[in-house]
Amino acid sequence: MRQITIVGTGYVGLVSGGGISEFGHEVTCTDMDQDKIKRLNSGEIPIYEPGLESLVKRNVAKGRLHFSSDVPQAIHNSNIIFIAVGTPQGSNREADLGAVEAVAKTIGKNLNSYKIVCTKSTVPIGTGKRIEDIIYSVNPEADFDYVSNPEFLREGSAVKDFMHPDRVVIGTRTTKSLNAMREVYRPLYINETPIISTSVETAEMIKYAANAYLALKISYINEIANLCEAVGADVHEVARAMGLDGRISPKFLHPGPGFGGSCFPKDTHALAAIGRNSDSPLPTIEAAIKTNESQKRRMVTKLKRLMKNDIKGKSVAVLGLAFKPQTDDVREAASRVIIPKLVESGATVCAYDPIAMDNFKNHHPDIQYRDSWQDAVNGADACIILTEWNEFRGIDLNKLKSLMNKPAILDTKNILSIEKLESLGFTFDNVGRKKSE
Ligand code: UGA
Repeated sequence: MRQITIVGTGYVGLVSGGGISEFGHEVTCTDMDQDKIKRLNSGEIPIYEPGLESLVKRNVAKGRLHFSSDVPQAIHNSNIIFIAVGTPQGSNREADLGAVEAVAKTIGKNLNSYKIVCTKSTVPIGTGKRIEDIIYSVNPEADFDYVSNPEFLREGSAVKDFMHPDRVVIGTRTTKSLNAMREVYRPLYINETPIISTSVETAEMIKYAANAYLALKISYINEIANLCEAVGADVHEVARAMGLDGRISPKFLHPGPGFGGSCFPKDTHALAAIGRNSDSPLPTIEAAIKTNESQKRRMVTKLKRLMKNDIKGKSVAVLGLAFKPQTDDVREAASRVIIPKLVESGATVCAYDPIAMDNFKNHHPDIQYRDSWQDAVNGADACIILTEWNEFRGIDLNKLKSLMNKPAILDTKNILSIEKLESLGFTFDNVGRKKSE
């Protein structure tokens, strides 16, 4: 059993803390935010993530998972310290490493014996070296090994992803630290999860390369979807046939209103900036970013076209605000670009999301919020689906039609049956498929 401290109890920190304690280690999740720690200690989970609450409660009850705002004390008591603080996008689009650097200083000042310092946050290539330098600058005698152990969790399935990863990447400089990290992930190792051992720099690169590739794949299928519209092809059939080629795979070939969330938009920008700064630009990634931004705007044009440009003073129902289902996260969501443009055009927006409305209200208190999709579409002149929540997949289209003022729908997630929409006489559009005449 290892004594582990996680610095930063946000999304990655809390899921990792829960997961590592489930592996049998003693974990203290720390955060400077005393209020958050207080809430966690009273059993409140600050984020919505399926399976997280039971994971946390089970391990707290077993006495393996603790929460504390006393970061120095937790560092003293541990053998391994994970850095899991945020690396938001800075003003120049590069990753803002302010929080990571502050944590490195705190760790340096509190290293009282040999420890492993391991970064889980997504950080630009070279950050490991920078963290080592910071630790030595505040504590020249520091005795530690640095490790990069990037996280590949998806919001909405993070607990499952942590317990059953496709691979674990561990970037180290010494055998001692590699063996200690293998020990942390021993239960996965026994399950034959591939443990990829690399240098620190390679591990940092793997995370960006993987995220940017997935983002690129989405932008590619969105471009193909847009072309399908122009030439009369169906992107679902195209994606399905492409995906059956084992070299391509069907995953991340779902077209839509553009990718969002706290990772792909930020990480593609950061990787593009690293490329530019290293005199090794990445034009494909730069293009994927541009395509993604224009895809979000394209949805507004489509909706306006569907409404025959008669949008001023009209009521538009928006179904789905989260950047994807199973999360209340609205960061960089398509809704954040599309809704302000609808409001700007003079529409009255009535929105509904099963769980992301409170978060969205923090950014857009000015639109109307409804407690169900039925309420949101009531009297609407058009409806736009932005998140593929299951409850929208199962919408009763007869009911929808009877509630709306005009049966016009833009299905940006391609979840509704074109045949049913046609037979009910909807005016409809989607991404890359047949639309109404
Ligand atoms: C992503 C990666 O999938 C994780 O492996 C990674 O650990 C995480 O970023 C991170 O860096 O922390 P996440 O942002 O939670 O995870 O969500 P995804 O499921 O990857 O979806 C991202 C966006 O792409 C969403 O807006 C989603 O709707 C969109 N998407 C996804 C598509 O438009 N089409 C697809 O086929 C797949």
